Amino acid sequence: MNTVDSDRTDDEAFSSSVVLEQTAAAPESLLASPDQLSQAEITQEIIDYHAAADAREAAGERVGLTLHDFPPYRSSVLRHPTKNPKLVDPETIELWSPAFGQRDVALIESDLTLQHTGEPQGERMTVQGRLLDSWGRPLANQLVELWQANAAGRYIHQRDQHPAPLDPNFTGAGRVVTNDNGEYTFTTIKPGAYPWKNHVNAWRPAHIHFSVFGTSFTQRIVTQMYFPGDPLFPLDPIYNTIRRQADRDRLIGQYDHDLTVPEFSMGYRWDIVVDGPDATWFEPEGGDH
Ligand SMILES: [Fe+2]
Repeated sequence: MNTVDSDRTDDEAFSSSVVLEQTAAAPESLLASPDQLSQAEITQEIIDYHAAADAREAAGERVGLTLHDFPPYRSSVLRHPTKNPKLVDPETIELWSPAFGQRDVALIESDLTLQHTGEPQGERMTVQGRLLDSWGRPLANQLVELWQANAAGRYIHQRDQHPAPLDPNFTGAGRVVTNDNGEYTFTTIKPGAYPWKNHVNAWRPAHIHFSVFGTSFTQRIVTQMYFPGDPLFPLDPIYNTIRRQADRDRLIGQYDHDLTVPEFSMGYRWDIVVDGPDATWFEPEGGDH
């Protein structure tokens, strides 16, 4: 018996259900403003800027593999450094940088489904992969951090107010240190797609944010893992800052039935390569989507 509701009148019960229904629609303040571009216009911009980059390259200009100044991704311009890089003494900075090892990170921190008293909602998944350098050598003892939205596409973050439910049993952050084979393993929940206000009706493909710490602050790199076959790929300005499909493909975790745990979780395998021609694409500092 629900003792909290037992002494409510029908009217009170009705009004509370109306409130719930109202919160299920996006408040006006959360919607992109009507003067922003439509998805069709953004998609056309993506196509046009890629064609322009290809043309500049064909004309002999050296064009990067990532379009850092990419107008379809509206805030990318704001992410440019505005001051000249400051040289630091590498030996000095190393004295102040933490180095994480197996002793510093508890095993349980890699299981995002065990952080609360109850089970989180959603499709449980195991994500496993190797951290490699460009020669294919495993990078052992490296801190790998992960953060993500819940199954409904909602982050626990004050800037994320879109009307999908928070999950009281899911925080969405974890970390692990790679083993001697350079391997990491996380147990988590498959995140949902979520809206953002880059343009009208903008949705991010489902993704998990990853950070690889390296051995000092100056080496930290951040990227995202996506899921196979997402219909939002051609629509997403962030995914499409990357010019080559082969590079984009390296951001997509692959379903691995051998990694799938019977009666428990779906398996995805995703290797991270930190340098060289096969390097995973990493985002510039300050990216938050
Ligand atoms: Fe995100």
